[in-house]
Amino acid sequence: MADTSKKYCVHVFTGTGNSLHAARALKAALEDKGACAAIALIEKPQGCAMPAAAHVFMFPVYAACVPEIMLRHIGALPRAAGAKAAVLATFGSMEPGKGGEEGYALEEARAALSARGFDVFYTGVLAYPGNVTAMVNPPGPELAAKITAFSAAPLKAAAEAIFSETRVYKPCKPGMRAVSFITGGLFRHWGRKFMGKWFAADSKCNSCGLCAASCPAGVIKMSGGRPVWNFACQSCQRCINICPQKAIQVSLLRAALLTLTVLVPWHILFGLRGVWLPAALAFNLASYLIVCVLADVVLTQLERIPALRPALVFNLSAGRNRYLAEGFEP
Ligand SMILES: Cc1cc2nc3c(=O)[nH]c(=O)nc-3n(C[C@H](O)[C@H](O)[C@H](O)COP(=O)(O)O)c2cc1C
Ligand code: SF4
Ligand code: SF4
Repeated sequence: MADTSKKYCVHVFTGTGNSLHAARALKAALEDKGACAAIALIEKPQGCAMPAAAHVFMFPVYAACVPEIMLRHIGALPRAAGAKAAVLATFGSMEPGKGGEEGYALEEARAALSARGFDVFYTGVLAYPGNVTAMVNPPGPELAAKITAFSAAPLKAAAEAIFSETRVYKPCKPGMRAVSFITGGLFRHWGRKFMGKWFAADSKCNSCGLCAASCPAGVIKMSGGRPVWNFACQSCQRCINICPQKAIQVSLLRAALLTLTVLVPWHILFGLRGVWLPAALAFNLASYLIVCVLADVVLTQLERIPALRPALVFNLSAGRNRYLAEGFEP
């Protein structure tokens, strides 16, 4: 029976549109039951225009944890004094009917929401096409459509549980909490920031500026007609997938210089053998960061020279598919 007293605010973060696709399907399923639902993209400032009886938080799983931008959003919400909340994440799948790995993400979101005073009554996850184009080939359109279609039934079940306020928690698998702590911590504090710095535009870039305009974290600035990435990337994969020219690549030179240099024992190179280990590690970290910033500045300037670009932007990503959820327009 219709229940118009139920109003939902669906807080969404999405990189390539899967979580928004799921949010729209959830909204439709809730509205079929007579409820009201509003979708608020967390990257936009307006939020939900109506008071909500329940809040639903939807986001992609990143490195078995919650995206940093979603944790910040939750942390900035007013204290909830027992308001109802549900968590419905999406994770990556490369085969219809097979899910990815949510790790600690659902429990992490639940803990963050509980700390803000929410009563989290539901946590669940839906399988959508994997989107990490910077690292692996995402599914092509036909396979992506099949993977997405497989989530229709679980999504309806999630909508039913959320509407009826059934208490459902998907627990973290044994051992995954420790693994997620390492993967999520490394990704959140280091990996995502440097993955943004692996990107460079190749010669197909026509300076349209779409990548900069659509980045949800305001990471990309156009400079001299070319996109330049700063160190605040969420690694959401929107830019590499949205470029109409398929011009954004993962430069192997950038990836190697900005990642592998963390392994260089700088204290030995500088002749500081036998120093106290914590001091050596601090010296190595400082040297690594300086080298990264300098390498980035130099590479950014050299990439402006058309003759040097093919070598500097040498990559394995040009031949990969690009993936955006059907109908996704940020
Ligand atoms: C940086 C990054 C890390 C990811 N980590 C995981 C993961 O740990 N487990 C998983 O199953 N999927 C992972 N994925 C896949 C996404 O969670 C999945 O494709 C999601 O549906 C993307 O949603 P979106 O289109 O709303 O951004 C990751 C994707 C990215 C970009
Ligand atoms: S979206 Fe692509 S073509 Fe447009 S500015 Fe960005 S890299 Fe260049
Ligand atoms: S730079 Fe690209 S991958 Fe990073 S947050 Fe922006 S759109 Fe996402």
